[in-house]
Amino acid sequence: MITSLKNQTALVTGASSGIGREIAQLLAERGARVFGTARDPKSARPIPSVEMIGMDVTDDASVAGAVQSIVQKSGPIQFVVNNAGYALTGAVEETSLTEARQQFETNFFGVLRVTNAVLPGMRRAGFGRFVNISSVVGLLPSPFMAMYAASKHAMEGYTESLDHEVRRFGVRALLIEPAFTKSNISHSGKDADVQLDEYAVHRGRILELTRKGIAYGDDPHLVAEAVFTALTAESPRLRYPVGKGVTLSRLRRFLPASLFDRALRKEFQLN
Ligand SMILES: NC(=O)c1ccc[n+]([C@@H]2O[C@H](COP(=O)([O-])OP(=O)(O)OC[C@H]3O[C@@H](n4cnc5c(N)ncnc54)[C@H](OP(=O)(O)O)[C@@H]3O)[C@@H](O)[C@H]2O)c1
Repeated sequence: MITSLKNQTALVTGASSGIGREIAQLLAERGARVFGTARDPKSARPIPSVEMIGMDVTDDASVAGAVQSIVQKSGPIQFVVNNAGYALTGAVEETSLTEARQQFETNFFGVLRVTNAVLPGMRRAGFGRFVNISSVVGLLPSPFMAMYAASKHAMEGYTESLDHEVRRFGVRALLIEPAFTKSNISHSGKDADVQLDEYAVHRGRILELTRKGIAYGDDPHLVAEAVFTALTAESPRLRYPVGKGVTLSRLRRFLPASLFDRALRKEFQLN
C-alpha cells in the first residue's frame, strides 16, 4: 500500500463541485500533483494546491487538449478519476433520444474519451489507475432516472472489461459506487422536457425522495477516501461501494431477486 502520492500526477474530472472537488482536495493533501477539470475553470472556486484546467468531457478536442497540456507540464499521468457527470430525470416515456444521448455523452462516452486520451501513456509507462465514479444505480434500478442508471450500468460493464484488458500492462480500471452523497447534483441535473400527467404523482414522489436523500446523504469525503484506497492499494478491489452503498449493494447481491424487487417497490410506493 502506497501512503503518499508524492511525485504522482492525478487528473480528476468534474472537480469544480461536490464529490470531484473533495477527491481533488484529498489527493493534493496526500501529495499528488492534481489537475482538476471544469468546463469553466475561471469561475470554479479554487482548491489549495490543485491546478484547475478547462475540459468538457463531451468534446474530443477539449479532452485531447487538456490531457496534452497536463503531460507537457507534469509528464505522464499516473491516476485518473473519471468523476464528471450529471443526472437526467424523468420517466423513460418522457425522455427523448436526444436527452438520452446527451446523458450518455457525458456520463459514459466522456469516460471513454478521457480514458482513451490517457491510456497509451500509462501502458507505455507500465503503471496507472483509472478510478471511475459509478453509483449504486450502476447495480440497482432507478425509476425516473433510467438513463442515468443505464449510463452507470454501462460504466460498470465497460470498466470491468477494460480492467481485464490492461491489467498485464500494470494498469487497473476500478469502480467506486457511492449511494446518496451531499453534492450539487440535484441542481446541476436536467429534467426531461416532456412531462406526462400519467407519471406526475410517482415522478414527483420519487424525485423528492432522491433530493432529500442527497441533501441528507453521505459526506463526499467518504467517497474521496475510497478513491484514495483504490489508487493506493497494492491489490485493489474492482468495486468499492461507499457509505450506505455498502448495504444496498449487499442487498442487491444476496437478496433473492423477487424479494429485492418487492422491497424497492415498497420503498418507492410504486404499487
Ligand atoms: N451525489 C450523489 O448522490 C452521487 C451518488 C453516486 C454517484 N455520483 C456521481 O458522482 C459524480 C460527481 O457528481 P456530484 O454528485 O459531485 O455532482 P456535482 O456536484 O453536480 O458535480 C458534477 C461535476 O461534473 C462536472 N461536469 C458535468 N458535466 C460535465 C462535462 N460535460 N464536462 C466536464 N465536466 C462536467 C461539473 O463541472 P462543471 O459544471 O464545472 O463543468 C461538476 O464539477 C457523478 O459522476 C455522479 O454521477 C453522485
